[in-house]
Amino acid sequence: MSSAEVAWADVAALEDVWEGDVVEVDVGADRVLLAHLPGGQLKAYQAACPHSEFPLAAGAFDEGVLTCAAHNWEFDLATGESLNPSDCRLYSFPTFATTERIFVGIPRDGRRHYNRCRGG
Ligand code: FES
Repeated sequence: MSSAEVAWADVAALEDVWEGDVVEVDVGADRVLLAHLPGGQLKAYQAACPHSEFPLAAGAFDEGVLTCAAHNWEFDLATGESLNPSDCRLYSFPTFATTERIFVGIPRDGRRHYNRCRGG
């Protein structure tokens, strides 16, 4: 996705998303989950669980794996892929950080960015 296809939004202070933590932010019509992975990498995904839309930020985030608090689906937040069940993937947004701020790229397509998966 080129930067011409996304609108970059300043969404949070880097110091407010600690390493090993996840934070939910609203960006226009999208609700975005920011994940600061162990080791320092930042990722941005849909914030609602693709199973039944429970807020993923309410789940447990341990060793880079987020477990949804509603029905225990598990997601690898390095890739966005589900581990249990194994056939689902979180919608992923481009993201980057400066020394102080975190930015998320929202596609300029006028749609809500979100995957749903069946199962469970
Ligand atoms: S809503 Fe997340 S596992 Fe069901």
